[in-house]
Amino acid sequence: MRRTVLILLFISIALVSLSAGGEKESMFIGVSVYRFDDAFIGEIRDHLERLSDGDIPIVIRNPENSQNKQNEQIAGFIEEGASAIIVNPVDRTASGVIIEKCRKAGIPLVFFNREPLADDMARWNEVYYVGARAEAAGRFAARIFIDYWEDHPEADRNGDGKLQFVIIKGEPGHQDTELRSEYLMKTLAEAGISLDRLDEESGMWERGKAESLMTQFLITYGDSIEAVFSNNDEMALGAIDALEKAGYFTSGRYMPVIGCDAIPEAYDALSDGTLLGTVLNDAENQAKAIYNIAKELAEGRTPSESAIGFPITDERYVWIPYTMVLQSGDSEYNH
Ligand code: BGC
Ligand code: CA
Repeated sequence: MRRTVLILLFISIALVSLSAGGEKESMFIGVSVYRFDDAFIGEIRDHLERLSDGDIPIVIRNPENSQNKQNEQIAGFIEEGASAIIVNPVDRTASGVIIEKCRKAGIPLVFFNREPLADDMARWNEVYYVGARAEAAGRFAARIFIDYWEDHPEADRNGDGKLQFVIIKGEPGHQDTELRSEYLMKTLAEAGISLDRLDEESGMWERGKAESLMTQFLITYGDSIEAVFSNNDEMALGAIDALEKAGYFTSGRYMPVIGCDAIPEAYDALSDGTLLGTVLNDAENQAKAIYNIAKELAEGRTPSESAIGFPITDERYVWIPYTMVLQSGDSEYNH
């Protein structure tokens, strides 16, 4: 009799530990990023894969730039019992719906790169945001240009004392489009540069679209363009493609082009001398903050600065600093 009890006890302990172990193993973090063919977001994805290796696994899905699909994916993660969900929203103003769904299911959320509206962030305390201050990116882009303009009087091609320029903007409504552009302009003006904006259009963050836009700008404004500012590197590279086809960057024909992100291809353009400068949008540290916050939440803890490795502002925001990256390859802040 005693033996049977002991055996039964042993079996039940074994079963309990098995199921606990099984539960831990089946734990996962769901990730949905707005589209897979975005170079900068691709970098964050790679870092997330690497960070999750040997830790809580992640399942990454691609809604292909459709908010409906993304909502379905999040519902799917909830059904499948994700321990936390990471979202790079297709439309940041749709975040409220996502937050409500996760709040009801009790599954914590980490947004990144596309900042939900403050009112939506306030709906629940298990929602975090990881991003970078777009204003700073605008200011850094301006500083790169100001140095160039001051050192190169010939950059004012028509000698009218004004800067004739075009801006290739990111997706409308994205905080990085609006704020980078606004602070770029403000900082140029504060430095005493008289601005003559010839044109601005959205290239939707895409290289191909930016190339077509730049081709169009060259047809319309020709050599009167004195500088090209782009809200990201992909589009700066697209503009450079168009400029090269139009004969720039050979036989002394130059155009200052400034981007943002410091994606690997941008470093090549910096050393070729086609890109004047860019601003590091630190994918690696953003990914670290995102993953560490999601992991803490998934394991039932409130993320703290010491656990995630980054300071937390306003209780649920982590801001990763931008860094200026110049043609010499030197980063001003030695990051
Ligand atoms: C990056 C862009 C990217 C966009 C996606 C921005 O922060 O600079 O390259 O396309 O985020 O949301
Ligand atoms: Ca001029």
